[in-house]
Amino acid sequence: MSGSPQAGSPQAGSPQAGRLAAGRPYVLLSAAMSVDGYIDTASAARLVLSGEEDLDRVDAVRAGCDAILVGAGTIRRDNPRLLVRSLARRDGRVAGGLTASPAKVTISRSGELDPAARFFADADVAKLVYVPGSVAAGTRRRLGRVATVVAAGDPLDLRGMLADLAARGVARLLVEGGSLVHTQFLASGLADELQLAVAPFFVGDPAAPRLVRGGDFPHDAGHRMVLAEVGQIEDMALLRYLLRRHSGS
Ligand SMILES: NC(=O)c1ccc[n+]([C@@H]2O[C@H](COP(=O)([O-])OP(=O)(O)OC[C@H]3O[C@@H](n4cnc5c(N)ncnc54)[C@H](OP(=O)(O)O)[C@@H]3O)[C@@H](O)[C@H]2O)c1
Repeated sequence: MSGSPQAGSPQAGSPQAGRLAAGRPYVLLSAAMSVDGYIDTASAARLVLSGEEDLDRVDAVRAGCDAILVGAGTIRRDNPRLLVRSLARRDGRVAGGLTASPAKVTISRSGELDPAARFFADADVAKLVYVPGSVAAGTRRRLGRVATVVAAGDPLDLRGMLADLAARGVARLLVEGGSLVHTQFLASGLADELQLAVAPFFVGDPAAPRLVRGGDFPHDAGHRMVLAEVGQIEDMALLRYLLRRHSGS
């Protein structure tokens, strides 16, 4: 991996940090979806899945992590800020010696990201952009002012990226999508936990993005995930799965 560390990067050993799994961070995938598995619309209109209570739950999950990762597609489509919103949680992190919000991480094959995207705002939070080595120089020219650009293999190696994050002190990584990113973490057996908030309606549009695309998932009918928790938040069901590792995953 190449790319200089960034001031304000997360610190190891935080009380919320969680465990390190085999030289990589604990990886928690989180998504909200419709009953039929859609995470957005296919049109310009955003799909509203979560109410205030679920957004607050996700805020608490964010506050307990060292870094939040979204794919470049989600940055382009949703333009998220990826910050902890609650002042009390921000203050709690700072009191614990952390930045007010976790570091922000993205992956991109093209490096084609807009430096004005909200992902790159907030000077006190580390921003890491992992790209294949072949586009690292160009991406650094585009984004070097606003983020640390890390060359992570060619093609990009997710395991190597996770090892690099661990070396930067990230013990607990929250992956917030989108579809392709969730697919790759799940298919490559690099997820430890999946939190799904299910909204009680259907989308029914095959052109809209689903939680995952097609893939060869280690957790199939013969290798079921562990259902660790079932909850209710307003009218949404919250499902928390633990993903045991299987041979070959
Ligand atoms: N409901 C929810 O909880 C939720 C949460 C987040 C997002 N979403 C939705 O998800 C949709 C976006 O999903 P998406 O599948 O289009 O995009 P995505 O998964 O966010 O990002 C895909 C992009 O990430 C980069 N990427 C992925 N795998 C890579 C790898 N192995 N190596 C290097 N780069 C890699 C590529 O970027 P480049 O194109 O730059 O090469 C790729 O195009 C949006 O509609 C968004 O609203 C929903």
